[in-house]
Amino acid sequence: PVQVRVPAIGLVVLVGITGSGKSTFARAHFKPTEVVSSDFCRGLVADDENDQSATTDAFDVLEYIVGTRLRRGLLTVVDATNVQPAARASLVRLARSHDVLVDAIVLDVPEAVAAERNRERPDRDFRSHVVARQHRDLKRSLGRVRKEGFRRVHVLHGVDEIAAAEITRER
Ligand code: GTP
Ligand code: MG
Repeated sequence: PVQVRVPAIGLVVLVGITGSGKSTFARAHFKPTEVVSSDFCRGLVADDENDQSATTDAFDVLEYIVGTRLRRGLLTVVDATNVQPAARASLVRLARSHDVLVDAIVLDVPEAVAAERNRERPDRDFRSHVVARQHRDLKRSLGRVRKEGFRRVHVLHGVDEIAAAEITRER
């Protein structure tokens, strides 16, 4: 197994392109209420998890929920692509403002794997250029994410490492 040690109280930021398996990973390793996803928040404010025009409002709601949970001392996992530095920076700031640790878990899967999975999904119709752009952003991120204020950055390379991951909550 690949050990992933996360803070028992704090923030865990998932990072991965669409189709990389973030929501699946979150479901496998965390309680449903511990996971706050951008899709869920888009649904809350737009009745449509794919409505990209609702993104700003959705992230306001997401940050509000996450901030409230952190203030209450609850482990919280953010399920959003977070392939852009600005998205990660907001979440690092949010954790800091609540004096809690923040780790990142990067799901680094080949673009072709994610694209193939997305083709099978009824709930997604991302064009391939979207996945390609996200993948470019992710690869760029790998070189800088360790300097962004995360306590630890766990990078899981490929589907095998992701499948072998075991989460430990540190006290
Ligand atoms: P977005 O929400 O679009 O950003 O994607 P995501 O990163 O949350 O991916 P999600 O977990 O929804 O997985 C996408 C598709 O890949 C789903 O159909 C999953 O069932 C499938 N999938 C996810 N993880 C795995 C895996 O480890 N193995 C296999 N075979 N399929 C997986
Ligand atoms: Mg998802």
